[in-house]
Amino acid sequence: MSRIAICNRFIMEGCRFKILSLFSFLLLFPCVYGWSKDGHLITCRIAQSRLSQTAADAVQQLLPESAGNDLGSECSWADNVRFRYRWSAPLHFINTPELCSYQYSRDCKDLDGEKGRCVAAAIKNYTTQLLSYNTAASATEYNLTEALLFLSHFMGDIHQPLHVGFASDKGGNTIDVHWYTRKQVLHHVWDYNIIETAEERFYDSNVDELIDAIQQNITSEWADQVKIWETCSQNQTACPDKYVSLKEA
Ligand SMILES: *[C@@H]1O[C@H](CO)[C@@H](O)[C@H](O)[C@H]1NC(C)=O
Ligand SMILES: *[C@@H]1O[C@H](CO)[C@@H](O)[C@H](O)[C@H]1NC(C)=O
Ligand SMILES: *[C@@H]1O[C@H](CO)[C@@H](O)[C@H](O)[C@H]1NC(C)=O
Ligand SMILES: *[C@@H]1O[C@H](CO)[C@@H](O)[C@H](O)[C@H]1NC(C)=O
Repeated sequence: MSRIAICNRFIMEGCRFKILSLFSFLLLFPCVYGWSKDGHLITCRIAQSRLSQTAADAVQQLLPESAGNDLGSECSWADNVRFRYRWSAPLHFINTPELCSYQYSRDCKDLDGEKGRCVAAAIKNYTTQLLSYNTAASATEYNLTEALLFLSHFMGDIHQPLHVGFASDKGGNTIDVHWYTRKQVLHHVWDYNIIETAEERFYDSNVDELIDAIQQNITSEWADQVKIWETCSQNQTACPDKYVSLKEA
């Protein structure tokens, strides 16, 4: 398979409502898109631990005070603002035709066909904005706190295989499966269940232990692969097209 990433278009259509009862309040939750909270927390904690000193300082400056310099705690922000910032909804995913390939010019568009509205474009967009940190442009043009929170979130989403998936099955949202005894759609299994079950079964339900285990593999087991992931071609700072089309090395 030339691509390990597959995707999703659950946002505008078929967004089912779930009713959760919590502390005796009834909360209405629209369908969640993107990794679960833990999925995003994990990617952001790992990312933050790998920043250069300069980047780490910038992230500390940009994070809201309440985050206590923990990028992971803010990594689901982009999901939380999806109604306030309706324009940002298409930026969480990419739809492809039923081909195991992705082309920016063909596939990077929203559900109305507007070009350049997809997660790959968003990663380039917010990377470019963040490169203006500490320049005059940054003071006027962009909110770099938002740029940071979008970028760190979308870097997680683009690596959720069903966020770069087939339009025809809405990124696995129309595929029913069983996850152990529970009936789920495939998309949800990737967002939540795989992570949740791994935490419960192997890591004492402790997300920090899972993060440690991944970190260990990044520096040993997967070190060669990680070098490939980290290197963009053509002098690019971000290479989302590569994350989407990643071939097995
Ligand atoms: C780029 O960022 C700006 C500011 O958040 C936003 O208005 C615009 O929609 C973004 N475009 C993409 C493709 O991410
Ligand atoms: C930047 O965005 C953050 C998050 O939305 C917001 O809290 C903050 O007030 C914004 N800053 C400015 C200067 O608008
Ligand atoms: C780390 O790598 C080993 C060997 O490939 C694998 O068995 C294990 O599941 C990996 N751990 C994580 C958290 O991915
Ligand atoms: C890489 O990008 C930097 C900054 O934009 C530029 O100064 C440099 O010339 C580029 N190098 C190559 C080989 O394109």
